[in-house]
Amino acid sequence: MTDAASAPSLLFTPIRLRQVSARNRVVVSPMCQYASEDGGPTDFHLVHLGKFALGGAGIVFCEETSVDECGRKSHQCAGIYNARHVTQYRRINDFLRAHGAVPAMQIGHSGRKGSVASPWEAYRPLAPQDAARGMPPWQTISASAIAPDERTPPPRALDRCELSQVVASWREAALRSLDAGYDIIEVHAAHGYLIHQFLSPLVNQRTDAYGGDLGGRMRLCLEIIEAVRAVWPQDQPVFLRVSAVDGLNSRWSMDDTVELARAAKERGIDVVTTSSGGINGPGTATLVPRRPGYHVAYAERVRREARMMTLAVGLITEPDQAEAILREGQADLIGLARELLWNPNWPAHAAKALGVPDHLDLLPSGYAWWLKRRDAIREVTRAAGQA
Ligand SMILES: Cc1cc2nc3c(=O)[nH]c(=O)nc-3n(C[C@H](O)[C@H](O)[C@H](O)COP(=O)(O)O)c2cc1C
Repeated sequence: MTDAASAPSLLFTPIRLRQVSARNRVVVSPMCQYASEDGGPTDFHLVHLGKFALGGAGIVFCEETSVDECGRKSHQCAGIYNARHVTQYRRINDFLRAHGAVPAMQIGHSGRKGSVASPWEAYRPLAPQDAARGMPPWQTISASAIAPDERTPPPRALDRCELSQVVASWREAALRSLDAGYDIIEVHAAHGYLIHQFLSPLVNQRTDAYGGDLGGRMRLCLEIIEAVRAVWPQDQPVFLRVSAVDGLNSRWSMDDTVELARAAKERGIDVVTTSSGGINGPGTATLVPRRPGYHVAYAERVRREARMMTLAVGLITEPDQAEAILREGQADLIGLARELLWNPNWPAHAAKALGVPDHLDLLPSGYAWWLKRRDAIREVTRAAGQA
């Protein structure tokens, strides 16, 4: 139950982002599943993402989806780099929309973090012998030819001409995403992937216009944002995910993040998602201590100083905790990842906990009808027991 004489829950108050309306502010955060086939989603993705829509989430993000075949991390990663993918994602998005959720796409490019095996194989670099099982390694690309670690071959530094092609691939992926029926698109500039590799001086040691000072290092990110915004409809929102602070030996600070958010806002970004880390060391390296709501302070600072909407994510698991983040003006949207893997019906449970009267209506009508009857029977039984 919310406090203050039970003011209506903010988490379950619909929100409008440009002309896109979400039934509530619970966002399924992107989650790579390493279950794609030739870059495309399978029946697994329909069920995996579909159950979050059935559970009542407002916005359902698919996993990081590569703009280019070589921008995937592994051969099992998702992509949207050909026309066949468009039809496959559209089927999923039709389902999400039919069940009340807003379908959202996260596009990305792994850069020097590509050409690896799955997390269950500790992201080991692919080797020539992996070709025998249909998973050949490929030459990765980045800002500078600096390998992420000793065991990984160095990437190739992109030249100016190739950078234009990279920007074009993001624009084309955005167009395909639109065709596939997504209402929201997020540019993934976090977690040590290609855009982050250009932002961070740890990896970007270029001496041309795409390196050097903050303006130079932000250039690729901002060109990608402009390219995506140019093709994404004006009445639909574009999000940007950033690592608010860098990985190990951090060289990217919150001041830089605020600068980036301001520049992104000028170019039409509507919401910034604040995550952290990933530039050096394993993706799971805990630069920011993992306590409940560990990224909320970053979302709050971007919201206050760049004066734009933010999405908070990172160990938000309790309905009251999510409600308080919104009430205290720290963020506008609440992202959940692992908690939804544990309980895809979290939105309906949270709505009940926050005293939303019609919480069962977040579930499919065929569930809600039976559960309301069950609740009525339990109420009668309880009353009889008290009599
Ligand atoms: C299985 C899994 C896959 C993830 N894949 C992505 C991804 O594709 N893109 C992304 O930006 N973050 C990804 N993340 C990070 C989550 O979106 C989220 O920011 C992080 O897990 C913290 O939220 P949580 O504490 O609610 O899990 C992933 C997290 C998990 C657990």
